[in-house]
Formats: sequence, C-alpha cells, structure tokens
Amino acid sequence: MSGSKKLFVKTYGCQMNVYDSERILETMQAAGYEKTDNVDDASMILLNTCHIREKAAEKVYSELGRFKSLKQVKPNLKIAVAGCVAQAEGEEIIRRQPLVDMVVGPQNYHKLAELEVIVENSGRTVNIDFPKENKFNGLGSRSKSQRAPSAFLTVQEGCDKFCSFCVVPYTRGAEFSRPVSRVVSEANELVERGVREITLLGQNVNAYHGEGPGGAEYSLAALIWELAKIERLHRIRFTTNHPNDMGDELIEAFRNCKKLMPYLHLPVQSGSDRILKRMNRSHTAQSYVDLIKKIRGVRPDILISGDFIVGFPEETNADFEATLDLIRSVNYGQAYSFKYSTRPGTPAAERDQLPEKVKTQRLEKLQALLSRQQRAAQDKMLGRRVSVLFEKLGRFDGQLVGKSEYLHAVHVDAPFSKIGQIQKVLITSVNRNSLGGRLCSENIVE
Ligand code: 5AD
Ligand code: SF4
Repeated sequence: MSGSKKLFVKTYGCQMNVYDSERILETMQAAGYEKTDNVDDASMILLNTCHIREKAAEKVYSELGRFKSLKQVKPNLKIAVAGCVAQAEGEEIIRRQPLVDMVVGPQNYHKLAELEVIVENSGRTVNIDFPKENKFNGLGSRSKSQRAPSAFLTVQEGCDKFCSFCVVPYTRGAEFSRPVSRVVSEANELVERGVREITLLGQNVNAYHGEGPGGAEYSLAALIWELAKIERLHRIRFTTNHPNDMGDELIEAFRNCKKLMPYLHLPVQSGSDRILKRMNRSHTAQSYVDLIKKIRGVRPDILISGDFIVGFPEETNADFEATLDLIRSVNYGQAYSFKYSTRPGTPAAERDQLPEKVKTQRLEKLQALLSRQQRAAQDKMLGRRVSVLFEKLGRFDGQLVGKSEYLHAVHVDAPFSKIGQIQKVLITSVNRNSLGGRLCSENIVE
C-alpha cells in the first residue's frame, strides 16, 4: 500500500472518543496511512461522532455537508463516519448524506482497513455490528512514537444501567471490562513512550470488573493498585462514574494510593428523588450526598465534579429547586450541565417534554450557581502549593502549561526541559479557566 494516503480525523464528544481516534489513527497508520491535520490534503476523512445530545449529532451532518465541494474536486476522497452517531443511525447516514462512503460503529474500529478495501471494491459500506471478538484485541500495540505526558486508556466500555435519558447502552453496547494484563501492558507501552499520567476511561469505569491474574475478578481499585506498581507512572485518574458503583475499596484508594489523584467526577443528574426514579438512576439525592461526605472523609481535599440535566420530562420547579439544594450541599469544584435532549429510542423520549424556555431558564440559574462554586474553589487555590505535571508549551514565550493534582490547568514560567516532570508550584494568580504560579525551590527531581 502506498505511504502517501492521508487520513484526517475529527473527534466529537467524550474522552473515550479521543482515545478511540488515537487508536484509529494507529491502526490506519499500520495500513499505510499518514495522519494529516489539513482536511484539504486528506485521502480519507473520518468523523468520530457523538450522539449523546441532539445538537452533537446535528453538528456531524452540517460538517458532512461542507465536504461536498472537496469531494467534487477529489472524487477518490473517502468519507467515513465512526462513533456513536454511526452506531445509532447506521444506513440512515448514507441516505441522508450520500457523500459518505463508510459507516463504522465503535466496536468495529479494528476492521477499518478491511472496510476501506470493501469500499474500494464494491462501494459504500456500513458496519455497526456488535462482534463477538473484542476490538481491543484486534487493535494491536500502541504507536512507538514519543507521547505527551498525559494519556487516556480505555479499560471498560458500554453500560448496563439504562438511565431513561441515555443512548450509551444502545450505541456502546453492554458493559465490557478489558483484562488486567492487557491494561497493564498498554500502560507499560505508554509509560515507555513518556507518559506519566494515565486516565482510565469507561462509560461506567467504577463498575470495572476485569479478569485478573489467575482468573480472579479485579475491581477498579485492584486495577489501580496494579497500575500503581509501574514505577515511572506517577499519576492515575479515572472517569466517568456511577454513584452506585462507588465501593469502599475504591474510596479507600483515595486515602492510601498516593498515585491516585484527588479528583472525582461523579454525575448525579438531578437532586429530586422523584426525577431520579423517572431517570432510572436507582440512587437518591441523600445517598449521593452521603457518599460525597464519605469520600471527603477519607480525602478532604478531593475536588468533586458532576453532571446535571435540567428540564427532564415532568421536572417541576420544586424538583429543580431540589437539584439546586443538592448542589449547595455538595459544593462542586467542577461541573457539566445540560438541557435534557430527547434521544430517539430511549424511554424518556416518549414522555411529555418541557418547553424550551423553561429548560433555558433553569439551565442559566443552575450554571450561575455552579460557576460561583467553581470560582470559589479556584480562588481558594491562591497561595497554595500544588504539584503540576507539565504537559506542553504555554501561549507565551518561556511558559509551560500543566495540570495540578486537582486537574486545574496551571501556567508557569519554566524551561522546556520540565515537560513530563512533576514540580511543586506556588499559585500566584487565578484566571477564568486556569491558575498561574511559579516554581517552588524545593522541586522534585525525577
Ligand atoms: N440529554 C441531556 N444530557 C444528557 N446526558 C446524557 N444523556 C443526555 C440527554 N439525553 C448527559 C448526562 C451524562 C453526560 C455525559 O451527558 O449528564 O452524565
Ligand atoms: Fe458521545 Fe456518549 Fe458516545 Fe461518548 S459514549 S461519544 S459521550 S454518545
């Protein structure tokens, strides 16, 4: 195969899609493609899509429309749609947008090169099966090139929880945990290439239950302890989580495992028990608040982040106020909030919907409260010493950007050689979305 074929990948949505896109690029590089960041140079364009909310899916169709003129001048250009929109809409994508040559669901990325040959020989193809063999085994080892200090590693995929608003159980399929040995060997490969921080990914990562050495089932906590043995891996994070899978062993890891960073993303969605029930969440507002208390009991400085949906069908003002109350009692350091968006095929889509205006008003009010909490959490960092893993060059000359243990972006004047190192930093300024600081004298030498 010629080495001049060029692949342009655009990624939408969650961190798992970011991870998948990296694996797609690596797989296609092995099949003779080079990566390009310039869409005009591409011989294949792949959109790795998100279906979580209506707007995310619509963006894909408008982006596809823009490739029309490009395809007119380059008739051999291949256009592929991957990810959750591909899984959910399948052939409909080709019907709606005939420019598309290939539709490939999240469980079939290991077959991309084969699909490309099929397109070459017999035209458009759609592959959205949930194959028996798992894609991770077909994806091979990680690229040999040097990597940025922080990386994602998918350890679990899919969801069996069926929250009534969510498409993930349909787009990503049933819960699946990768075996411990595969995760550890991929983590070792990443560390060899310069990675010092790994974020373990899963749609329900705290429900991880992979096969461990000797056939024993490993929990996420056990997996974290296993990964903590890798000497040059300094930091471990995991996301995203469900409150019902936040077991004691995992909570204790926040106390005892020095490499596990004090940041937890724990979506609650609503603070009203009535709505939580209609969402099929199987936890209550109080059980969530108690859980947060317990976690803060073992790790008082932990930064808590959450997801919220406003305007879910039947949500009254009182339900919404209960969500605000929950936010007040938890006090979030970071949060993501959304208007409820109907997703075809999910139970809540069949119910009576709230007016858009009500959703907008509630979202504004909720976001104002969350922003105040986030700002207060940022302000509290002023004058504190944090550990920063430097990841890349900053916007200004002589500046680097890294992440604190709490996942704040931190800008510091520091030499390029510090990239990949963890250094103590004194926080001297608080900006809108980041912190500024200076290197402390007693810095760790790696
Ligand atoms: N509408 C709005 N937000 C949603 N989310 C998931 N499904 C929907 C939907 N139909 C949000 C949830 C979830 C996050 C990833 O996206 O808050 O935790
Ligand atoms: Fe989007 Fe969810 Fe799919 Fe991630 S798993 S790409 S957030 S729909």
